[in-house]
Amino acid sequence: MISKDGAIGVFDSGIGGLTIAKAIVDLLPNEQLFYFGDTAHLPYGDKSASSIQAYSIKICNGLLEQNCKVIVIACNSASAAAYDLVREYVGSRAIVINVIDPVVEVVAAQFSNQKVGLIGTKQTVSSGAYDSRLAKANPSIELSSLATPLLVPMIEEGFFNNAISHHIIDEYLKDTSLSDIEALILGCTHYPLIKREINKYFDSKIAVIDAPITVSNLLKKVLEEKDLMSTVAKQKHTFFVSDLTDSFKASTEIFFGEEVNLKHYPLWD
Ligand code: DGL
Repeated sequence: MISKDGAIGVFDSGIGGLTIAKAIVDLLPNEQLFYFGDTAHLPYGDKSASSIQAYSIKICNGLLEQNCKVIVIACNSASAAAYDLVREYVGSRAIVINVIDPVVEVVAAQFSNQKVGLIGTKQTVSSGAYDSRLAKANPSIELSSLATPLLVPMIEEGFFNNAISHHIIDEYLKDTSLSDIEALILGCTHYPLIKREINKYFDSKIAVIDAPITVSNLLKKVLEEKDLMSTVAKQKHTFFVSDLTDSFKASTEIFFGEEVNLKHYPLWD
């Protein structure tokens, strides 16, 4: 039986998933968050689907041991490569949410007969996860995807809203595959941090769609529908990574808006 007072487990390849975690704690202040970033295996965006699946199952075991009532796969690359497997593996022990389906639902409802772009990691783009879901939800939409692998290290190094990030972003966005799009999906945990620059590139003429608010709204809806909202007042969140370094600690502030107390969780020892 899933317990109302279990934590919301959120996992990512690293600390970028804190963009999703932040939206969740803002919207659901009485829920307890258990965050796990698999920094020992970062980046997932360049890994094979089978490696990401193996990591994801091991992480889910850890989250289930921590009594999580929900597992949010905050990472796009893991949502693309491992969601089906994770859902099957977890079964009725917890609710599993990924970051792709809620965004696809929004796009499918709003952009009929239009061309939509997607940027993400190599893994997310080559998986075709958005393509197949969108084709099913609304076949009139043309999706054009572009892998933008330089953006993750760029943002992690704190390069955004500056001359270097402008150049890299412009170089990617001027790719012909993204010409004439009416909307752009930001298919990566890190990209909400460069949303402003992307909006600027397009002169705010197209819709730029990211996951954090959409995913946290879906989570709230699911908890309400299943009568799983926490009955305990505001609790302490916990943030763990599989490999702890000073630079990961320092970067938490970029993604969460404030520095969090990051601890090592010996999942792989
Ligand atoms: N979290 C990953 C994603 O959203 C980006 C970082 C990585 O490649 O591990 O796809």
